[in-house]
Amino acid sequence: MTQVKEGWGSRIGLILAMAGNAVGLGNFLRFPVQAVQNGGGAFIIPYFVSFLLMGIPLLWVEWAMGRYGGIRGNHSTPFIFDSMAKKRIWKYVGVFGIFTNIGIISYYTYIESWTLSYTLKSIFQSFTGLDRGQVSTMFDNYAGVHSHIIGNQLAINVPFWAIVAFLVTLIINIYILSKGLSEGTEKVAKIAMPLLILFGIFLAIRGITLGATGIAGCSTCNSHLGLDFLWKPNFDSLANPKVWLAAAGQIFFTLSVGMGTIHCYAAYVRKNEDIALNAMTAGWMNEFVEIVLGASVVIPIAVGYMGLDWVKENAGFMMAFKTMPYLFNQWGTILATLSGVAWFGLLFFAGITSSLAMGTPFMGFVEDEFGWGRVKSAIVLGIIILVLALPTILFFQYGVFDEYDYWTGTVSLVIFATAEIILFSWIFGLKKGWREITRGSDIKVPHFYKFVIKWVTPIFILTIFITSLFKPLHGEMADWQVAFHQLFSHGTWPWASDSIIAQVFHINVKMIWFKNGMPTGMFFKDMSRLLLLSTFLGLSYLVHIASKKRKLKSKKLQS
Ligand code: ALA
Repeated sequence: MTQVKEGWGSRIGLILAMAGNAVGLGNFLRFPVQAVQNGGGAFIIPYFVSFLLMGIPLLWVEWAMGRYGGIRGNHSTPFIFDSMAKKRIWKYVGVFGIFTNIGIISYYTYIESWTLSYTLKSIFQSFTGLDRGQVSTMFDNYAGVHSHIIGNQLAINVPFWAIVAFLVTLIINIYILSKGLSEGTEKVAKIAMPLLILFGIFLAIRGITLGATGIAGCSTCNSHLGLDFLWKPNFDSLANPKVWLAAAGQIFFTLSVGMGTIHCYAAYVRKNEDIALNAMTAGWMNEFVEIVLGASVVIPIAVGYMGLDWVKENAGFMMAFKTMPYLFNQWGTILATLSGVAWFGLLFFAGITSSLAMGTPFMGFVEDEFGWGRVKSAIVLGIIILVLALPTILFFQYGVFDEYDYWTGTVSLVIFATAEIILFSWIFGLKKGWREITRGSDIKVPHFYKFVIKWVTPIFILTIFITSLFKPLHGEMADWQVAFHQLFSHGTWPWASDSIIAQVFHINVKMIWFKNGMPTGMFFKDMSRLLLLSTFLGLSYLVHIASKKRKLKSKKLQS
């Protein structure tokens, strides 16, 4: 184990980097879409409950684990976990904390590169005068996503400019990572976060003040209806497991809990430095950006011009690229240009501060265990990302991107969070754990959270995990009742296609890899899984070697 000469330059830098880790594309693209798809105001209560009972406790737990490990020279979760438990298995569980980041960063950096290109397109006014169809086609051409299997020919477009933009984005990330925490990531966060908030406020003011746009024949073209739909609490959903799963999933993704990034950043915090207040500041900053700014841009502006029904039916993550530039065009060239730069610029800043965080656990691991320098670690990370990202770019329309997002951006987070909360509360022990959370604290952490961290959060996450494993078709409360009835009467279970078990065993889908001599969607899906599994196994093997090296070193020291 080599002592890494890394550290945060200042408290404000640490908080902004942590907030930057959390504030990401998820706040502006994922959150509004999840909210709309899960009934608007119906989503908000489960979302807040998940934040209070799962998000906040996990923030404290992950910061505490990170600082605990860092003091002992461990800056990534395999050996942070290893330092907290006796059983050897924990370091392999900790592999998730590197794997998840590498998996997510591979598709995340690609979206980040779209935002970079679209910022430039806005600056050069490439959208001026285009109608909605033309803006949408422009994106399809850019990302090469309009090709399908034509006849029995597999049509793969190589999206040249998208690949160039991706490479540029990747190089920017790798360059910043190679500069280290205080000289790279922290400096970027100090510039990117204030700008992002400024751009967000500008667009949110537009969304909030837009009101009725008077579009002929559209009675719901009013941004206030969009805000109303998102904000009017609807208590009907409280007993709807589908909405709870979506809300908890959003909390995981937006706070970056269950990923391993927070542990890694916190591992560079000094022994008696506050973590309780820092964790809250970064966490609440993320919530401000998500629910105040994130909710006030895409949806209200789209409702203003397209109407509420259209948005309910079409809300999707691509709206940001395929619809927003057209909506900005309604404001005249100058304001459209400014809004485009603000929108895609803020997405780029949000994205890069998160992707930098996701790159850090791998770097921390190889620096600690193999003594690599920053530049070498960053370049190797860049090569791994490139290899994993190329299939998501080239085979985007065959579902590779979605497959990565499902396994690394959704399932892994729940598995990792389940494991870490059990480790912290029950194996390491809450007595010691609480001391870790509160040591050097600048706030008084409510005692009530002792009970929450020991009981409520583990039960909450376990319930989410089990529900995700067995989710029945449609996943609403009544569907669970039907499913149990079917189980007891016919001995079968009506699996939802996105339940983890149905996914693992390809339940209800035909396992066909080739049709007419051409690879099918299933083939691409399974190959992506194989690639991800190999990445996980490869990382586990590195952890195994590192562990052997550690043993050898400690034996040498003893003799
Ligand atoms: N927390 C990051 C986001 O929301 C990953 O995009």
